Amino acid sequence: MQDTLTKKIFDVDEVRKDFPILNREVDGKPLVYLDNAATSQKPESVINAISDYYSNYNANIHRGVYSISIKASEAYENAKIKVKEFINAESEREIVFTRGTTEAVNLIAYSYGLENVNEGDEVIISEMEHHANIVPWQVLREKKKAVLKVIPVNDNGELIIDEFKKLLSDKTKIVAVCQISNTLGTINPVKEIVRLAKEKNKNIAVIVDGAQAIHHTKVDVRDIGADFYVFSSHKMYGPMGIGVLYGRAELLEAIPPYQTGGDMISTVSFKGTTYNDIPMKFEAGTPNVEGAVGLTAAISYINNTGFEAIHKQETELLEYATEQLDLIKGLRIIGTAKEKTGVISFVVEGLNALDIGIMLDTSGVAVRTGQHCTEPLMDRFGIPGTVRVSFAFYNTKEEIDIFVNALKKAIEILR
Ligand code: ALA
Repeated sequence: MQDTLTKKIFDVDEVRKDFPILNREVDGKPLVYLDNAATSQKPESVINAISDYYSNYNANIHRGVYSISIKASEAYENAKIKVKEFINAESEREIVFTRGTTEAVNLIAYSYGLENVNEGDEVIISEMEHHANIVPWQVLREKKKAVLKVIPVNDNGELIIDEFKKLLSDKTKIVAVCQISNTLGTINPVKEIVRLAKEKNKNIAVIVDGAQAIHHTKVDVRDIGADFYVFSSHKMYGPMGIGVLYGRAELLEAIPPYQTGGDMISTVSFKGTTYNDIPMKFEAGTPNVEGAVGLTAAISYINNTGFEAIHKQETELLEYATEQLDLIKGLRIIGTAKEKTGVISFVVEGLNALDIGIMLDTSGVAVRTGQHCTEPLMDRFGIPGTVRVSFAFYNTKEEIDIFVNALKKAIEILR
């Protein structure tokens, strides 16, 4: 799929035709898919690109001298260029494909972390991090006797930047924060966070978890200034099983491989092994070509839709749904940050989030319930979990009406 230069007028009904799954029914009711923060649905162009790969040029890459292997290798390399351009990295050498955001954070913790963090050194994360951006740092803390510090959030679900400033110290080695909270929808001032960390010490490595941001807003990694930026394909309309670790070339060059074998090797003898150049140094084994092909098509789809249209539609949905939910007695929205994206978490007095989720499913409405892999954040708000709705640009106000009516019915029945 080529990226068009002139944007079409955004028409949500037309857009929905691009996503085959949005036509399906659940028990005779239209599927209302409001769990986009967990994974997005896929446009036909992504599905077709993957089908075309398997139908016409499936082969292992970087190993074959025959035409379909060369075509598959080119598709894989082109995907890196596509990602590089999408996030404005300096070079495709800075783009490592991983299994997803989680593996990318683990890679940084094991490779950069083990190499650069020593006893007593400090790693700063935040109270709103996903478990994937908490546990790797806890493992590092155990291995290196490091100290883990946590930026607190206020009652609106915003990071308290003044507290972050106090946490920075001469011992800080790593700062790792999300750009957008998967649970609260809060948009964090990551550029400011990078600036403050670098002002303290330019050698502090700043990692931004962009899993919930990459498909909502234009990301420019050089403008943000982070050393590492990570995200998953499946939340940005691409396939599962592939994600991106962007790292500044000089850092990627300096740190050791995370896994070994296959494509990450240059030469092997029983005396020793030399490693491939970046980014392949971090890509052991047969790469995920299918994923790379699908991700390329997903980026084209986003480019052709345009972030302006995406932002406008998602903001309208957020505002409309917030207004409707605010009218429901006993319902409390968790996360009311000034800067917010299309995610609403809420609790209903006296009711269990899981029960609400199950009841919504009987009306065809798909939401997520529970802790959303952010248990410390739930503790912060003193709640066991929430119901979470999260929007994509293909959602409509009519779907929000269906959801709100189903929710009112569920509350009535459960009370
Ligand atoms: N991290 C994903 C979510 O928030 C799975 O639902």
